[in-house]
Amino acid sequence: MGVFGYIGKKNAVPILIEGIKQLGFQGFDSTGLAVFEEGRLWVAKSTGKLTELENKVNARTFNSTVGIGHTRWATHGRPCDENAHPHIDCRGDFAVVHNGIIENYLELKEWLLAEGHIFRSETDTEVLPHLIEHYYDGDMDTTVRKILQKVEGSYALIALSCKEPDMLVAARKSNSLVVCQGEEGCYLASNFSAIPEHTKNTYVLEDEEIAILTDNGVNFTDFQGEAKDKILYEVNWDASVVEKDGYDHFMLKEIYEQPKALRDTLGGRLTEEKVVLREVALTPEQIASFNKVAIVACGTAYHAGLIGRTLIERWAKIPVEIDIASEFRYRSPLIDEHTLTVVLSQSGETADTLAALREAKRLGARVVAITNVVGSSVSREAHDVIYTWAGPEIAIASTKAYTTQIEAMILLALFLAQAKGTISQEWIREIITELKKLPDKASEIFKQVSKIQQIASSIKDSACTFFVGRGLDWSVAQEGSLKLKETSYIHAEAYAAGELKHGTIALVTECTPIIALATQRDLYDKTLSNVNELKAREAQVIGITFEGNESFGQAVDEVFYLPETINELAPILTVIPLQLLAYYVSLARGNDVDRPRNLVKSVTVE
Ligand code: M6R
Repeated sequence: MGVFGYIGKKNAVPILIEGIKQLGFQGFDSTGLAVFEEGRLWVAKSTGKLTELENKVNARTFNSTVGIGHTRWATHGRPCDENAHPHIDCRGDFAVVHNGIIENYLELKEWLLAEGHIFRSETDTEVLPHLIEHYYDGDMDTTVRKILQKVEGSYALIALSCKEPDMLVAARKSNSLVVCQGEEGCYLASNFSAIPEHTKNTYVLEDEEIAILTDNGVNFTDFQGEAKDKILYEVNWDASVVEKDGYDHFMLKEIYEQPKALRDTLGGRLTEEKVVLREVALTPEQIASFNKVAIVACGTAYHAGLIGRTLIERWAKIPVEIDIASEFRYRSPLIDEHTLTVVLSQSGETADTLAALREAKRLGARVVAITNVVGSSVSREAHDVIYTWAGPEIAIASTKAYTTQIEAMILLALFLAQAKGTISQEWIREIITELKKLPDKASEIFKQVSKIQQIASSIKDSACTFFVGRGLDWSVAQEGSLKLKETSYIHAEAYAAGELKHGTIALVTECTPIIALATQRDLYDKTLSNVNELKAREAQVIGITFEGNESFGQAVDEVFYLPETINELAPILTVIPLQLLAYYVSLARGNDVDRPRNLVKSVTVE
């Protein structure tokens, strides 16, 4: 989750501990550090609170002036001391801390094992020190460049060696890394917040750049070894903003992290023509034996499950039931060994979801969990786990967990459809191509944030709002309305657009903003006629649709156009303006955006 490094004139250990503490504001499950001490590398790791690590290092005195540190949020491998960073090679000569995901680690690990390397952890990162050990040619700089040719994926990494303890080598691809130069040494961190306050001379590492730090300063090269000229920034940030990477709130930061979270969740799970879910150990025969899928979750995770229901039925042709977890057990569900149960939970600790999982297992069902927290109760108790690689979600209003849960549901639906042969190869290829484009399309949406701010200020004083849509848009409408009510405290309800006229439309007046979603092309006309009914009651209608749907754009009062994608993937894009809307309305009303009243992040009681 966070990497940190120091080389200079001062004792490295207290600096590393402070850096780890600052990185820890982003959430972590374990921590660790490595320093060069008495001619060798000295490594300490611990699971849980930082005080555990402090107790280990306080047990002795250090004179080291170089070291690396890490805060981990488990991805590959559960949270435990062995999986905490830094990771070392067989002899303990090289130590590496790493943020990101090494997508081809399994192939690399198999090859290294065959070459006689001994692994101690379940992580993807551990291949890095072993690769350095294998290719070390007496020069850390060229060795790190050489091993990066073999590695696919994303990383911000720092390597330390007892063979060249007068330097730290760092590299970046798709994960942030800054280098700061102070009077007393050079610092490296994935997040500027970890850098001591008085050190503001900062370089920002770009993708495919390497930094070589010594106690004299820092040099930069590209991956080919060509020297790079870098701009030196003088950073003067308020520390509380820095904690949130410059964003005013965690909710906003997490909304903006979605392109990366989406990319990471797809990482290593797609080829050009198929979904690869190594973590779901179901054979095609087992999949064929399921006559039903049962989806169970709470809140936002339940809303992601609604999308999953449609996609599994549409693609894998298996009937799906979906339940709110707190209702599941008490309606005596008809579940047995022919039911595939899918539980979704960001935290993996929600009491009702956990109880539903246990009930499904008791009834003989196979349980697949979709969760964001490695080692959580849900992940430990399910038969198979698909992790969303969203990183820690700190704001109470769930955002990046939702979009990555939908992505995981899409992968699962395709995986089941592939195994059953219920979907053509051509269609799978098209969906995969579109899936890979989604993170960039999600980024595109942020260019129109001023439009959302304007809509937010027009609805901020409303007493009541409705979110409407048909098909998958109705599922997203339910998440949009939850987001608005939990952050802004404005009454918001979601309705299937065609259902309004069966009663609810009586509530609509010119004072009722309606957020109408229209991304399902086969339902465009029907949604348009529902919007016209609302307009006839003088409602203020804000439309969200794809670029090119001009007739809808003209029918509503305000329109937000989304970059185009296929119908089934639309929910991932559609929800982003709704999340931003909730954020800006909450802000305008002066609410505590990250900690709305009466709510906790994880509901661990029934
Ligand atoms: O950790 P979980 O995904 O199991 O949590 C489920 C809900 O409590 C959660 O999604 C909640 O609805 C969020 N506050 C919504 O933003």
